[in-house]
Amino acid sequence: MSNVEVSRAQLRETGTIKRHGPEAFAAMRKAGQLAASALDMLAPYVVPGVTTEELDDRVLDFALEHGAVPAPLNYRGFTKSICTSINHVVCHGIPGSKPLREGDIINIDVTLIVDGWHGDTSRMYAVGEISRRAERLIEVTYEALKLGVEQVKPGNTLGHIGAAIQKFAEKERCSVVKDFCGHGLGRLFHDRPNILHYGEAGEGAVMEPGMFFTIEPMINLGKPHVKVLSDGWTAVTRDRELSAQFEHTVAVTETGVEVFTHSPAGRLEWPSHFN
Ligand code: MF3
Ligand code: CO
Ligand code: CO
Repeated sequence: MSNVEVSRAQLRETGTIKRHGPEAFAAMRKAGQLAASALDMLAPYVVPGVTTEELDDRVLDFALEHGAVPAPLNYRGFTKSICTSINHVVCHGIPGSKPLREGDIINIDVTLIVDGWHGDTSRMYAVGEISRRAERLIEVTYEALKLGVEQVKPGNTLGHIGAAIQKFAEKERCSVVKDFCGHGLGRLFHDRPNILHYGEAGEGAVMEPGMFFTIEPMINLGKPHVKVLSDGWTAVTRDRELSAQFEHTVAVTETGVEVFTHSPAGRLEWPSHFN
């Protein structure tokens, strides 16, 4: 394909992505901050002995107290309010009755619907003392998200985001999961476009002000390959090595990026602590 045709294709794809105005930004700030507050609220409870079902209950209560609804509940047959992905679970782990153990690492993914708008964010938590290699994976994954977010500005392509994430993760001898991606969102939970966490700068749609999407890299210590368990949801690494993920909901602004899901409590001042 010629360069001219490539840029036409990009324009076409860009044109299918919603662009939102000031009221939508205000609504997404509210939804994003409430989802991030739920993650802040959970931090003291992520300790050895707690079950992921207890964490799920706390988020459901928190959501209802604040006039919000957890988006995963009854979403395509999902029966819980959050996703809890422990150790070699890559994403979409289902809360259950098994207690967390000292040394586990866990991703907790919260999506809340507030006044019809979706705030979607996830973080890693350390359960007690964790290994140095687990800690390093978490640091690499958080840095990868940060580098991805820094690529968000009008005129850059979605490929700039994936390229920054992949280049960094692979330099750190980690691998990027290719089977799951970030997504557009707003009144919809999962909308266009897909946000790949790998690729090349210049590929994909050109970013324009008013676009809303998530960036949510899943980074593995071992190989990138995953499989989904027979429950139809839980995605695990095929080599059973550790996997980590962080997620923010962001907007493209006139000048760059707005992150809707920063911790209102000021958590995640990396790398001093992540719990
Ligand atoms: N919150 C997840 C995401 O980042 C989606 C979870 S869908 C569920 O897109 F059904 F598994 F909850
Ligand atoms: Co998401
Ligand atoms: Co999520």
